[in-house]
Amino acid sequence: MTVSAPVTHPLDVPTAIQQRRSIKTFKPDPIPPELLQQLIELTVAAPSSFNLQDWQIIVVQDPDQRAALTAASWNQSQIAQAPATFVFATQTTSWSRDLEEICDIGLATGAWTEATAGYFKSSVPKFQESLGEKQREYGIKDAMIAATHLVLAAESLGLSTCFMNGWIEDQVKAVIGAAGQEDLAIAVLVPVGYAAEPRKNPGRLPLARNVSVNRLGTAYPG
Ligand SMILES: Cc1cc2nc3c(=O)[nH]c(=O)nc-3n(C[C@H](O)[C@H](O)[C@H](O)COP(=O)(O)O)c2cc1C
Repeated sequence: MTVSAPVTHPLDVPTAIQQRRSIKTFKPDPIPPELLQQLIELTVAAPSSFNLQDWQIIVVQDPDQRAALTAASWNQSQIAQAPATFVFATQTTSWSRDLEEICDIGLATGAWTEATAGYFKSSVPKFQESLGEKQREYGIKDAMIAATHLVLAAESLGLSTCFMNGWIEDQVKAVIGAAGQEDLAIAVLVPVGYAAEPRKNPGRLPLARNVSVNRLGTAYPG
């Protein structure tokens, strides 16, 4: 096990996007605490609907917890190998707890006026309640955007990742201490660490297959 030196020249965004691969094997090397802190800060710099930040992010580092999470993920070994796995969840009711504070912070930064904060305080509860069961979907969108920030930030800073959908939700919730918590939904798991071996780019479909101009089916010529 080695401790990696901090990256002094992070990759630019286009390079990080092109270079990123879903890595399936990780070295046991730990992520330096200050780098982990930087990753977490870049993750929560993600935007969210109304700035609600309705994600719950659980950074699983304990070896027993990682083993339990692996078992909850069809024994996919990247979780046991990577020094940290980020569990991205969304708490669909967190807006009711956080809205006041979110508005106070927006006012304190000068980004929002009293009028904006007042509008949010009256509109957000109505909007969120009108979503009904779709609150889960909206929360998962926010959590996925945060996870994408993590993945690209990690790549830029010399780390590797793997988005993971292959897990059993109830089991993941039990591992993170949220068994039976109905207002919590798991979005995605992302192991983070130093790649043990590279992976090739499996490629993408031609742009004209799934990119359209103006109307669905008017293929983008590429
Ligand atoms: C939402 C999502 C879920 C995924 N779930 C898994 C998974 O459970 N296990 C795994 O090994 N790879 C998983 N992958 C990785 C994909 O297989 C991979 O992204 C795809 O093959 C393209 O390869 P690339 O990421 O290297 O470009 C997932 C990717 C995404 C975006």
